[in-house]
Amino acid sequence: MTPPLIDPFQRAISYLRVSVTDRCDFRCVYCMSENMTFLPKRELLTLEELDRLCSAFIRMGVRKLRITGGEPLVRRDIMTFFRGMTRHLEAGALDELTLTTNGSQLARFATDLYAAGVRRVNVSLDTLDEDKFARVTRWGRLPQVLRGIEAAQAAGLRVKLNAVALKGFNEDELISLTEWCAAHDCDLTWIEVMPMGDLETEDRIGQYWALSDLRAQLAQTYTLTDLPERTGGPARYVRLEETGQKIGFITPLTHNFCESCNRVRVTCTGELFMCLGQEDNADLRSPLRASDHDAPLEEAIRAAISHKPKGHDFDYSRQTQGGQMTRHMSHTGG
Ligand code: GTP
Ligand code: 5AD
Ligand code: SF4
Repeated sequence: MTPPLIDPFQRAISYLRVSVTDRCDFRCVYCMSENMTFLPKRELLTLEELDRLCSAFIRMGVRKLRITGGEPLVRRDIMTFFRGMTRHLEAGALDELTLTTNGSQLARFATDLYAAGVRRVNVSLDTLDEDKFARVTRWGRLPQVLRGIEAAQAAGLRVKLNAVALKGFNEDELISLTEWCAAHDCDLTWIEVMPMGDLETEDRIGQYWALSDLRAQLAQTYTLTDLPERTGGPARYVRLEETGQKIGFITPLTHNFCESCNRVRVTCTGELFMCLGQEDNADLRSPLRASDHDAPLEEAIRAAISHKPKGHDFDYSRQTQGGQMTRHMSHTGG
């Protein structure tokens, strides 16, 4: 038996998020600049390397695997990788195989994802207004994403929408997004905008909409009941009594949830980030490429986890962007 991964703060690492590409068919304003330079193919982990890496983490106790990007569904032949992970679900070594996607390619892949064992997808969607959607994603088109969501549900996938709360952008859609999710049987989670990426062109503090305020606004229309349930993620949930729906809040700024962090992230080049909000990372591509045996890889993973930091330092309270990360969100996939 391989011993589990425990960090210096006695947190067990049971959740791995893997970015399979840095590319995306959108250019969301808070995630990427318009002119991104993407990595040459040789820098990326191959599908075989991704399989070895994820399988090593699963041997070491990871029970939930989330595939991210960039946009994971634009990676060529990514279904081969998903189908490879099915064996871990079937063996009972993995509880959940899932992905976070912008939804643009879901209509093409929903059935294959379900067949590979995916049961739930998180779709990033900040607005239901076509013009605003085109503005915030720069390259995205809303109807295509809505068709993707519909296809996902038709294939049997449960859909959760992730909306980044942006002041002056989707504030006025709080109720309409909630109603849309009720009508379409989607879950909905709001996320506070984090200071990630080259922010010269972006005003994060101006965009920042505290979820404490969003919650208060929601409470003017609905009766909110706090729910004790946890999905192993940072979201806290409330139930809207009038509709029975569940709304999640991810609040890295107003409430730090790092004490119960159970996750690490791997980028598409094999950098292991122990925290979304810290620069510290470890190279897993070298041990992967240095040997066909997994012992050096496992050793590198263990060494890295023994340095997992306590948490992020994001902070806007002094009207500065405390804890800002220079890398874009697309680098680590959220
Ligand atoms: P569920 O399985 O649905 O609970 O998913 P999740 O919340 O773990 O994953 P999801 O991809 O929906 O996460 C949504 C967003 O929350 C991410 O893209 C990040 O922006 C943010 N987030 C998730 N985990 C962390 C974390 O550990 N730290 C911080 N600061 N933000 C996180
Ligand atoms: N702050 C918070 N969330 C972000 N996302 C992208 N950039 C940011 C940011 N700066 C979200 C996306 C998607 C998820 C992967 O991360 O909207 O839901
Ligand atoms: Fe692409 Fe998601 Fe980043 Fe938007 S937030 S540019 S959809 S990776």
